This record gives sequence, C-alpha cells and structure tokens, in this order.
Amino acid sequence: MLNVVVLVSGGGTNLQAVIDAVESGEITNVKLSGVISNNKNAYALKRAELSGIESRCVSPKDFASREEFNVKFLEAVDEMKPDLIVLAGFLVVIPPAMIEKYRNRIINIHPSLIPAFCGTGYYGLKVHEAALKRGVKVVGATVHFVDEGTDTGPIILQKAVEVCKEDTPEILQKRVMEQAEWKILPRAIHLIANGKVTVEDGIVSIEE
Ligand code: GRF
Repeated sequence: MLNVVVLVSGGGTNLQAVIDAVESGEITNVKLSGVISNNKNAYALKRAELSGIESRCVSPKDFASREEFNVKFLEAVDEMKPDLIVLAGFLVVIPPAMIEKYRNRIINIHPSLIPAFCGTGYYGLKVHEAALKRGVKVVGATVHFVDEGTDTGPIILQKAVEVCKEDTPEILQKRVMEQAEWKILPRAIHLIANGKVTVEDGIVSIEE
C-alpha cells in the first residue's frame, strides 16, 4: 500500500478525482493518508473531511519567515509518512529540503502540455489566457515529478484537449480539467502505486 498525501490550495476538484478513483478501484494499492492545505478556507479541506481523510492547514501567513514555514511544513508532511506526495493545485513553492528528501516521490498536475505555457507565472487561468492569446488549437495537461525548477521535472503523463472557437479562459480551464487533469492525475498515481513508473536520466518509462 502506497501512503499518499495530497497538498492543496483551492477547490480540490483534482483531489476529489483522486478520492473517487480510490473508491471506485480505478486506483489500487493506495491509502490516502492526509491532505494539507496552505489555505484554511480551501474547499479541498471540506472534501477531505467528508471522505474521512486526516487534514490540516499549514500557512506561510502563520509564520514570521519563509524559512520557519518551510521547516514546519516539512515536519507536517513527514508526520503523515507519505510514500508519494501529490500537488493538486498547490500554490506554495515547495521547500528545497522537501524536494531533496522526496526526490521522484512528489508529483504535480499542470494545466498545459509542458513545455508550453509553464514555468514562473503560469498558473490557474493565466495558463489558459496565454494559450488562447497565442491561438494554439490543442492544449492539455501534464503530470510530472517535481524537481528544483518550476514545471521542469520528468514528465509522467500528458493528455491533449482541443481548443474550440468560442472558448474563454474559464471554459477552456473547465474542459482541460474534465478531459485531462481528472483523468491523468488518478492514472499516474495508480501507475506509481503499482510499480509501473521508473525514472532514468530525467526520462520516465511506463510499463503499461
Ligand atoms: C488545476 O487547474 C491544476 O492543474 C492547477 O490548479 C488547479 C487546481 O484546481 N495546478 P482544483 O483545486 O484541483 O479544483
């Protein structure tokens, strides 16, 4: 059984997709052992509570410095004894010590086909605004391992989504979530939990 801890900041629809996939058996070999939010008002915390998953809030706002937050945040994560950490819409920069300690055991969902529309400043609606502005006809989502860079880690899964003529950033964001994010995030967790994912020289291989 893989102990999975999910880090969230907002609505938690990706968290919900993971919870549902564990319940339906689409994800096997996983125990969702905790949810941590940096935002006490995140609806994701309510979703965790409704599903009986231990949850807590650790916010940079409650600490005098970022260094102090980083130490307490890593302690909170460690206490949940994760084998895998899932960033599901988590908007706080991961402390370098955590990346080092959990190398190739932290994954993130990003709402574009990396390396397009990723890196510093590309989060939330901004990603979809930029895609529409550039006029791309295909967008999508990526699940990747987290390294020291922003959206630079080894790519695990990607799924493409078509852009439609009348799309607004909001409509496109919703389609990317429904058609890509909520599918590939649970899938990636299932594959990792069942030993199907290996990383060598920054390249992921998947045994299907
Ligand atoms: C998603 O678009 C995810 O890709 C991004 O933040 C959003 C989180 O949404 N990193 P939710 O909290 O899972 O509903």
